[in-house]
Amino acid sequence: MAAQRARTGRPKPRTRAGTDGGATAGRRFPVPLAVLGATGSIGDSALSLARAFPERVRVTALAAGRNVEKLRALVEEFRPDLVSVRGEAERSRLLELLREGAKGHCPEISIGPDGLETVAVSGPEDTVVLSAVSGAAGLRPTWAALKAGRRVALANKESLVMGGDFIMPAMTRLLVPVDSEHSAIFQALGGTLDARGASRLIITCSGGPFLGRTRDELERVTSAEALAHPSWNMGPKITVDSATLLNKGLEVIEARHLFQVPWDRIEVLVHPQSVIHSMVEHADGQIAAILGPADMRAPISYALGFPERWPLLGEGRLPGYSPFAFGRDLTFAEPDRRSFPCLRLAEEAGRSGGGAPAVLNAAGEVAVHAFLRGEIGFMGIPKLIGDCLQRLGAAKLYRIEDALEEDIRARALALKLLNDMRGTA
Ligand SMILES: NC(=O)c1ccc[n+]([C@@H]2O[C@H](COP(=O)([O-])OP(=O)(O)OC[C@H]3O[C@@H](n4cnc5c(N)ncnc54)[C@H](OP(=O)(O)O)[C@@H]3O)[C@@H](O)[C@H]2O)c1
Repeated sequence: MAAQRARTGRPKPRTRAGTDGGATAGRRFPVPLAVLGATGSIGDSALSLARAFPERVRVTALAAGRNVEKLRALVEEFRPDLVSVRGEAERSRLLELLREGAKGHCPEISIGPDGLETVAVSGPEDTVVLSAVSGAAGLRPTWAALKAGRRVALANKESLVMGGDFIMPAMTRLLVPVDSEHSAIFQALGGTLDARGASRLIITCSGGPFLGRTRDELERVTSAEALAHPSWNMGPKITVDSATLLNKGLEVIEARHLFQVPWDRIEVLVHPQSVIHSMVEHADGQIAAILGPADMRAPISYALGFPERWPLLGEGRLPGYSPFAFGRDLTFAEPDRRSFPCLRLAEEAGRSGGGAPAVLNAAGEVAVHAFLRGEIGFMGIPKLIGDCLQRLGAAKLYRIEDALEEDIRARALALKLLNDMRGTA
């Protein structure tokens, strides 16, 4: 029903006075939305919101990578003005599919990294850009959107991990976090990235599927086990990162940039039930926590609608939920950095700064894809990342483009080391 409404008619724009002194003042509803990573897990959640709330959000542009079949269905449903795909082959295939479908809508199609940027700066000035491409590929379009003054709902943590020194604090007013932990902290701070009044940011961590395992046991785990996350349903890269705790390390670096707090005021706490999404300890010792179901539609809708909250409960949307169902079973523990060295490596890379976080991220991407292809074991992931960090160190970066060059350098080294590992296996 909602999907049909989205397909057949666009609600008439209306304006609303903002309550936040600027970010939403005079905003038109429905808000134009450009989705980078439309065919992924975050893209799915965001587009299900667009389907459910056509009066609040109107999809104007979609960027995907290779999954043109899925993109075709999205184009036919949402009728965006512009789309982008990975390359020429995907563009031709999409055109063919759209002609076969004969639904009479063919948007402009751009390709490659430039195509992602075109989508990121497309549409009217008040377009919200959901940055949800996976990996380092997200940095360029996110940066382009911010430079163009677009409000960015940021899921792609790699943008801040690699380019946070250049993005923050200049772009603070344009960024709203999507990552559930950062959204929780943003909400616990009262809808701001200003954490000067906070004494600690406490990032919770489910511990992933291998919580409690020893290093020896981890040597033998399979990719199928790593892909079975106990709480969240996500894309393959972030799911494996959740199993190694690299994701938590990337989140610590993301939090450091987003909230501009010193490293020693960010803590990680293992909380396997994933009920509390993160906490802020205020200067007066009071702790504010955000609790909710493990469903990305909540933080995404908050980022898209901020400062407004959308009615997600009921009508087949978010399930009713009571944190009290967990009663006294909510538990908290220190993370085990010995068995899960990726967390330590990320924290060290973050503190070293310069090019180290970009190296960490690039080596992590190469390592995880090699693990998923069965080329290295689970503990080969921290080994490859650690070796790359040791060899490349923390190069000084002068511009955001230097982070992209560091990414290329680290990827080349990681692939070479991976080849050596294969040769000796
Ligand atoms: N999933 C979550 O719950 C979650 C939570 C917090 C943060 N995040 C962050 O959100 C981002 C996306 O995560 P995800 O789980 O949604 O990933 P995902 O399911 O793997 O989806 C990735 C999306 O990015 C596209 N993509 C990848 N590389 C691309 C490239 N070079 N050019 C164009 N498009 C490209 C993919 O397109 P094709 O599939 O068409 O190739 C797909 O649409 C990541 O940065 C992740 O850390 C995710």
